[in-house]
Amino acid sequence: MTRAQFDPINPRAPFIWHGGDYNPEQWTAETWDADMALMQQSHFNVATVGVFIWVSLQPAEDRFTFEWLDTIFEKLHVAGGAVCLATPSAAQPAWMSQAYPDVLRAGNSGQRNHHRARVNFCPNSPNYRRLAVQMATRLAERYGQHPALLIWHVSNEYGGACYCETCAAAFRGWLQQKYASLDEINQRWWTPFWGHTYTDWSQIEPPYDNNARIAAGLTIDYRRFQSDSMLECFKLERDALRAITPDIPITTNLMGTYPHIDYRAWAKELDVIAWDCYPFPSANPSDIAFLHDLNRGLKDGQPFMLMEQTPSSQNWQPVNALKRPGVLRLWSYLALAHGADTIMYFQWRRGRGGCEKFHGAVVEHGGRSDTRVFREISALGAELASLGNATLGATTPARVAILFDWNNWWALDAAIGPIQDKAYVATVRKHYQALWRRNVSVDVVFSDSDLSGYDLLIAPLLHMVKPGLAERIEALVARGGTFVTTYFSGVVDQTDLAFEGYPGPLTKVLGIRVEEIDALYEGQTNQIVMTDGSGSYSCAQLCDIIHSEGAHVYATYGSDFYAGTPAVTEHHFGAGWAYYLASDPEDRFLDVFYKRLLVAYALTPLLATPAGVEVTLRQTEQHDLLFILNHNPTEATIKLPDGTRYTDLLHNQAATGSLTLAGYDVCILASERG
Ligand code: GLA
Ligand code: ZN
Repeated sequence: MTRAQFDPINPRAPFIWHGGDYNPEQWTAETWDADMALMQQSHFNVATVGVFIWVSLQPAEDRFTFEWLDTIFEKLHVAGGAVCLATPSAAQPAWMSQAYPDVLRAGNSGQRNHHRARVNFCPNSPNYRRLAVQMATRLAERYGQHPALLIWHVSNEYGGACYCETCAAAFRGWLQQKYASLDEINQRWWTPFWGHTYTDWSQIEPPYDNNARIAAGLTIDYRRFQSDSMLECFKLERDALRAITPDIPITTNLMGTYPHIDYRAWAKELDVIAWDCYPFPSANPSDIAFLHDLNRGLKDGQPFMLMEQTPSSQNWQPVNALKRPGVLRLWSYLALAHGADTIMYFQWRRGRGGCEKFHGAVVEHGGRSDTRVFREISALGAELASLGNATLGATTPARVAILFDWNNWWALDAAIGPIQDKAYVATVRKHYQALWRRNVSVDVVFSDSDLSGYDLLIAPLLHMVKPGLAERIEALVARGGTFVTTYFSGVVDQTDLAFEGYPGPLTKVLGIRVEEIDALYEGQTNQIVMTDGSGSYSCAQLCDIIHSEGAHVYATYGSDFYAGTPAVTEHHFGAGWAYYLASDPEDRFLDVFYKRLLVAYALTPLLATPAGVEVTLRQTEQHDLLFILNHNPTEATIKLPDGTRYTDLLHNQAATGSLTLAGYDVCILASERG
């Protein structure tokens, strides 16, 4: 879908920001000078500074030491670089934890942690909030007018949860705002079950590890509350920065399908989305593509920042393989192909100690520039510089959307039965992948998104249906669109109360009724037998036993006591269609199924390509930009459509007829729009 776009960091430069996390606080001035020279050599034009430097700026409550950071700002500026300035609130100084123990986070037994690590603050601690805002204010006062300041990076990777007494009290306040009365909570959380009716607000506690199973509604609300509490911390710092530097954009770095934060709720508070991309080296590129699309979707199509990726390897996975030669470049363009406007890394220089001393870096312990990684980064930097503004701000037109929702994920996780692992994220990615394999552009949307521009909406495992969503789905189908959902959908409302009959508010549009849900053991399968005689496919995980109430039976189960009953249904509703996949099908089924739907809407693939060659489209005002990415280690040949004149922006030549890409190579083909 194309929408009016606003990318706050673009107007500041006609080029792609290329850079990453710089940690000068770990080094001395001698290294700083070497860093500046190396940054210039590697075409770095932005450095993220400040992520964990609180104690280096405020060694005691009443003492501030900004002078060294002044020097870094000057050096970066002279070297031609901009600064992505982080507020250091992700790691409070030890003196603060000592002086104000309430700043420390408590684990899910309710016991406070010792001072350690990072993101170990209580998001509701008044002392933490006060001191974090004070530091943000001082940074804005000191650097707000500096010409090198590009963007604010508030804190770092907000996440986890705190279970301390301060949070418990704040949670009760949050609940009082949300629910008018204790009676309402008792009803919403179904507390008479096991005799847990609350008779006073003070009895409500966080879901500690020894009481967590009391009510899923409580667990989900606590996750919402913690996500909101951390967002409140972000907003407090943001507002302090904004008051002094109203023109500098403000962001924080997100983590993809990170379980503990509802990023959709956060997105509207950020000026630009920024995210840290750390796939397993063996990841399927479609899973990485999905995450980029998710980030693009957070602000309804606005380009995003790739804030961190490793130049070579991670160190926190069980096995940390190197990115093969060419893969860093390929995956950087993968981000660009899906909507990124920056390419940034963690980390610039490896520290000699600490738990990330074996994490990939642009500069290794040897400090040299004659390394494979440094050469690859420098070459990529030069190439990105030569692209200029060709891709900046470009949008992705998509007529297909896939729905993702954090609260829905939490509800699925909190549901005890019918199978333990509902595999929400994997299931969403599986459907996404069926479209990705066909080079069809997909937007990731959320329960509150505007659905009016889509022909096809896919909502796997839409277990929790929030108020208003079913009506918007009905409108999409009624005007001629298609809706696809799966088993275990339409089961609970926004507070996790089961609907009295599934698929709840989706019943009308789907034209079915669910009677029972069978769970299959690992390795056990049933079959989806097409009623048109075109074949049969295996299915697993869960099998809803359903009845058609107006829907056409598209496929039936092949075995067990429910053999012959509907496994896939198709309901004509208004001018469109709604499909229910009552079980989890093998990929082969999804290929055939989505192919039929795409044909029905004339949603032709951007290009037909060999396996492992991906194509995406971004559009600027004048140009269509086709990104062609060869994820294979071996060469691939792609036939281009006749009659279009393309310019290959990376290889700087015209392209017609067919195109051969070396293993892991990429091209961006520009053509005039219209
Ligand atoms: C995150 C953090 C960085 C670093 C990397 C390591 O993205 O923001 O500080 O720890 O992970 O992969
Ligand atoms: Zn707390």
